Amino acid sequence: MNPLRELKLDQLKQRTSMKWRYYPEDVLPVWVAEMDVPLAEPVARAITDAVALGDTGYPAGTAYAEALAAFGRERWGWEPAVERTAIVPDVMMGVVEMFRLVSARDAPVVVNCPVYPPFYQFVESLGRTVVEAPLSSSWRIDFPVLEQAFDRAGRGAVYLLCSPHNPTGTVHTAAELAAVAELADRYGVRVVVDEIHAPLVASGVRFVPYLSVSGNALSLMSASKAWNLAGLKAALAIAGPEAAEDLARLPEEVGHGPSHVGILAHTAAFRDGGEWLDAVLTGLDENRRLLADLLASELPDVGYSPGQGTYLAWLDCRALGLGESPAKEFLRRGRVAVNCGIPFGSGGEGFVRMNLATSPEIITEAVERMASACNGTSS
Ligand SMILES: Cc1ncc(COP(=O)(O)O)c(C=O)c1O
Repeated sequence: MNPLRELKLDQLKQRTSMKWRYYPEDVLPVWVAEMDVPLAEPVARAITDAVALGDTGYPAGTAYAEALAAFGRERWGWEPAVERTAIVPDVMMGVVEMFRLVSARDAPVVVNCPVYPPFYQFVESLGRTVVEAPLSSSWRIDFPVLEQAFDRAGRGAVYLLCSPHNPTGTVHTAAELAAVAELADRYGVRVVVDEIHAPLVASGVRFVPYLSVSGNALSLMSASKAWNLAGLKAALAIAGPEAAEDLARLPEEVGHGPSHVGILAHTAAFRDGGEWLDAVLTGLDENRRLLADLLASELPDVGYSPGQGTYLAWLDCRALGLGESPAKEFLRRGRVAVNCGIPFGSGGEGFVRMNLATSPEIITEAVERMASACNGTSS
């Protein structure tokens, strides 16, 4: 059974999370990265077992890292060394802590725009500068541009790499990651990699963990995106051999953030959630094809190249004549919520991000609403 087809709209509308409560009830939400799926059975069981036992105290042990290690071995032919991992509250808090470990307070942070908006917000709220290195027109790392950005950011800067890349779904190759490592070494830039979308790749595509290519980096991984566990906070920070001493300096209190029940859920996902994940991945392959077909027939002026990873679709709506924020018009005239491209940084104007972790019916309805917004047939 495809988990993306299990829940109907009236069930989803009962949810109280951000995706379902931020906009008024008549708006169809296909924006924030939550999945419209029931929990994977092993994850639900881990949580209900904990509740039945009253096992809701403080966390202990390394089961989360061990589960990720087994998952990585099987799927990517690589595993983190458990002794070089630390549990952090979530990926973005982990990213911030990694910055503190490897760079000065005011060190700039290089990002590949368009990129997940908190990459700007978290960096700026730390009082640091973001240096943009836009992706190429085919959404791959543009190495001459990255080199210029490293040069501008200077020695001691940090590069926050998103792998796979949100919102374009780019899955970086081993050769690209090796080139990143070489460039970062040459320019004295430290690499922090957000690999939260790692389990979510299209069929036939291989995710390459950055630490399998370079030992001098820190990675953040989590079951949060692939198993829809954002409400059950827990993530892993992982050091390569040459960054082990950096991670060893992580203040102990950071480990007080993640929740024990969250850790149990994430552990069960990596340990026992593989079959469920495979069903989701098959469903996402279908949804990417469906979206491409729907756009070709309903909105042929929208540019879409199906990503190789994540469940997000990055849509070029510049030819629709809806201005710099088509998302606003889709919402106002079509009552459908997608993410506006502008907060994703330079080059985001005229783009929207759509979430495909939902049923074919909802994707179809969302595209129809977007088309109606363009035709002016809705309010
Ligand atoms: C690239 C990326 N990093 C981090 C996050 C947020 O993760 P967390 O809730 O663990 O901070 C997301 C959520 O969508 C994401 O897409």
